[in-house]
Amino acid sequence: MFYDPRSDEHGLPHSPVTALVTPRPIGWISSVSRAGVVNLSPYSFFNLVSAYPPFVMFSSAPAKDSQRNAEETGEFVVNIATYDLRDEVNASSAEFGAHVSEPAVVGLEMIPCRNVRVPRVARSPIALECRYSKTVGLESGDGKPNPSAIVIGEVVGIHIDEAVLVEGLIDVTSVRPLARLGYMDYCVVDEVFEIRRPGEPAAALSRKAEPVS
Ligand SMILES: Cc1cc2nc3c(=O)[nH]c(=O)nc-3n(C[C@H](O)[C@H](O)[C@H](O)COP(=O)(O)O)c2cc1C
Repeated sequence: MFYDPRSDEHGLPHSPVTALVTPRPIGWISSVSRAGVVNLSPYSFFNLVSAYPPFVMFSSAPAKDSQRNAEETGEFVVNIATYDLRDEVNASSAEFGAHVSEPAVVGLEMIPCRNVRVPRVARSPIALECRYSKTVGLESGDGKPNPSAIVIGEVVGIHIDEAVLVEGLIDVTSVRPLARLGYMDYCVVDEVFEIRRPGEPAAALSRKAEPVS
């Protein structure tokens, strides 16, 4: 089948769009409002977009508290969402007012970061402290503004729980990252296989050296 998403006439019972690009990692974004309220919400339009130096992005539609807080305070934190935390991740996505602190409502302990004032989720094994870089708005070819905006951050601090390190490598089967599929579906990474690049030496280089991806 083929359809043009500008008319959205796909003829299917549900739009397939969010099921097209899967799995999508989930950035669980903590931020602090100007009034000092700690905010925490999941974003699956999220990724690492540069490795050396590391930058991340999440996309908000429309502008929500996480975007506003990042823009107003210049900081946010990406907590990696895991299978163990799936219920809390989902609960934190409910629409609470800007004056309500999601971690408190959901019952999550937050602990301080080092290079930003925003706290991180104590139980998340990986957290990225970010300095807000810029927001990129989107616009369709017909000039119509898109309600989504891409919020970009420079990673200025990285926390890794040593419990997920095996011989100095991150053991993703210990992290068990949660990822978003289409519809109401999720998946978890709990199995890994390795493919060496052509010509790569036999030593387990792939996760030690600095290939870009
Ligand atoms: C797994 C998951 C992923 C989500 N991803 C996004 C996303 O990428 N962009 C977005 O705008 N909302 C996303 N949402 C919805 C937001 O989490 C929700 O609107 C939340 O209330 C926003 O909170 P905030 O206003 O505190 O930032 C997602 C929800 C869930 C459960």
